[in-house]
Amino acid sequence: MIYIAIDGPAGSGKSSVASGLARKLGFRHLNTGNIYRMVALLWLRSNQPDFSQDFFEMIKAKHFSVVDDAILMDGEIHEDDLRTLEVGKVVSKVAEIPEIREIITDKSREIVKSGNFVVEGRDIGTVVLPDAFLKIFLTASVEERAKRRYRELVSKNLEANFEDIIDEIRQRDSIDSSREVAPLKPAADAVLVLTDGLSLEEVIEKIYVLYTERMKSVKD
Ligand code: DC
Repeated sequence: MIYIAIDGPAGSGKSSVASGLARKLGFRHLNTGNIYRMVALLWLRSNQPDFSQDFFEMIKAKHFSVVDDAILMDGEIHEDDLRTLEVGKVVSKVAEIPEIREIITDKSREIVKSGNFVVEGRDIGTVVLPDAFLKIFLTASVEERAKRRYRELVSKNLEANFEDIIDEIRQRDSIDSSREVAPLKPAADAVLVLTDGLSLEEVIEKIYVLYTERMKSVKD
């Protein structure tokens, strides 16, 4: 199997890039952030203040799979429930729990056994798939990421305050990169791709070229 790992901070454009790249290569796409979001949703629904052994067992018993860009849990799509403000607020906390990271890492490795995958997240190149064929660390300046988020909210007719968005992104970055387990950081052998000023197509093309060059060097 061939795996391409795409890691990077929130708002760096990972999902659109991973999805487009997977389509271009005929690979499947796994967005591990959506599994973290699904677990956050389960935790909210459990109405428990803490994470118990029972909760960990409940997640372990769930079956996760992928169809196109979506994650299925026990055969059902919950896509709309994963992007809510409530889930967004607690997901970083859920992602800090070592037992949960271990379960999601195992589930992710299980899913990708079924084919060639573009896998996106925060710790794919460092923890989940350290032997991935190609590792990309996607970055963009805080201002660029805030601009994209602002445009996205405005296009959906949602309330948007640029300064608030910048604060939120800085806060999320700091939680994601300072946590003890699997902090957000590029793998030593990752290629850093800065997306400031590049269109989605340009970023996909850049990674596609890296992939074909690597493929060629392996074959030579
Ligand atoms: O990519 P996203 O913003 O939907 O991810 C949601 C949260 O899950 C975010 O706080 C980071 C966390 N996450 C993680 O810790 N490890 C991953 N491999 C993927 C996501």
